[in-house]
Amino acid sequence: MSDVTLRELEWTDLATLAAMEHELFADDAWSEQTWWAELAGRPRRDYVVAVADGSVVGYAGIDVSGDVADVMTVATAPRQQRRGIGRMLLDDLVHRASSRGCEALILEVRADNEAARHLYEHCGFEIISVRRRYYQPGDVDALVMRRLLTEGDR
Ligand SMILES: CC(C)(COP(=O)(O)OP(=O)(O)OC[C@H]1O[C@@H](n2cnc3c(N)ncnc32)[C@H](O)[C@@H]1OP(=O)(O)O)[C@@H](O)C(=O)NCCC(=O)NCCS
Repeated sequence: MSDVTLRELEWTDLATLAAMEHELFADDAWSEQTWWAELAGRPRRDYVVAVADGSVVGYAGIDVSGDVADVMTVATAPRQQRRGIGRMLLDDLVHRASSRGCEALILEVRADNEAARHLYEHCGFEIISVRRRYYQPGDVDALVMRRLLTEGDR
């Protein structure tokens, strides 16, 4: 992982992120316009990108609201997955949320997203509630997961 570095999201990344979204999320992809709105939402919105060989290979972000931060997204480019980039990004979100004084990081994940569920469990998230048939069409449950933050996360 020595070839992968993290940095703040910049406006020049937005077209790349919109293209990656299309590949990763298909019909649910965020457009470039949505990314501009996310960037304009700083500092409440807080995004990080992973870079390898000068190219963006992953991204993640949080929405900070009072004592709690919500994970907005975590994604790794298909050809770069299973190399530890997702964990690196999530660890960075934990650090960001904790440094900003949050007591917990919350997220929502489709119950059928095995990769994301494993990643979140790996990083210490626990299921705190289930929203039955939340994702439509498909009747897929949403799992609400939480990671409590401690001094050591800063
Ligand atoms: C979920 C996602 C971000 C994981 O990114 P990644 O860079 O591949 O993750 P990592 O390499 O850091 O994997 C960390 C751990 O997560 C788990 N994991 C990741 N991908 C997995 C998969 N396909 N199947 C099972 N477990 C998986 C493993 O426990 C893994 O640890 P290991 O490799 O030591 O076994 C990536 O699959 C992705 O971008 N998916 C599409 C977008 C998405 O669904 N995002 C989450 C919802 S917003």
